[in-house]
Amino acid sequence: MKAAIIYSSVTGNTSTLAEIIHEKMEQRDIKTDLFTIDQFQNHSLKDYDIIAVGTYSWDNGDLPLEMEELFEQFETEDVDHVTTGVFGTGGQLLSLFLWGLLTYLRICFLSILI
Ligand SMILES: Cc1cc2nc3c(=O)[nH]c(=O)nc-3n(C[C@H](O)[C@H](O)[C@H](O)COP(=O)(O)O)c2cc1C
Repeated sequence: MKAAIIYSSVTGNTSTLAEIIHEKMEQRDIKTDLFTIDQFQNHSLKDYDIIAVGTYSWDNGDLPLEMEELFEQFETEDVDHVTTGVFGTGGQLLSLFLWGLLTYLRICFLSILI
């Protein structure tokens, strides 16, 4: 059984996650190739039994442009035998959390003044 992890990462968060998943799979004796999205170019999806795809999100929760070609590759190659998984990182929840915290602090501050 042969697996691949293909990911994109700018600041390193998704890269760290990819390395952890890689380590866990190797510990389970699953031979796993680890690729950045650039490194995977000219490789074939159908050579693998398991493929995990990892990405970050940007703008308004969009996928990065560099991942689009890979998703098209999934549609054009014969990947019926491939078990797939996805993983990723994002900052949306943190910004919501911080915005909520700020609102809470403003309410507390206003209630002290009233
Ligand atoms: C310009 C920019 C836009 C972002 N937009 C989003 C977003 O829309 N939704 C989200 O969940 N995270 C967003 N993030 C947060 C990243 O997805 C998050 O930090 C992620 O872990 C980065 O992954 P990386 O370290 O693998 O590059 C944004 C980050 C940057 C720098």
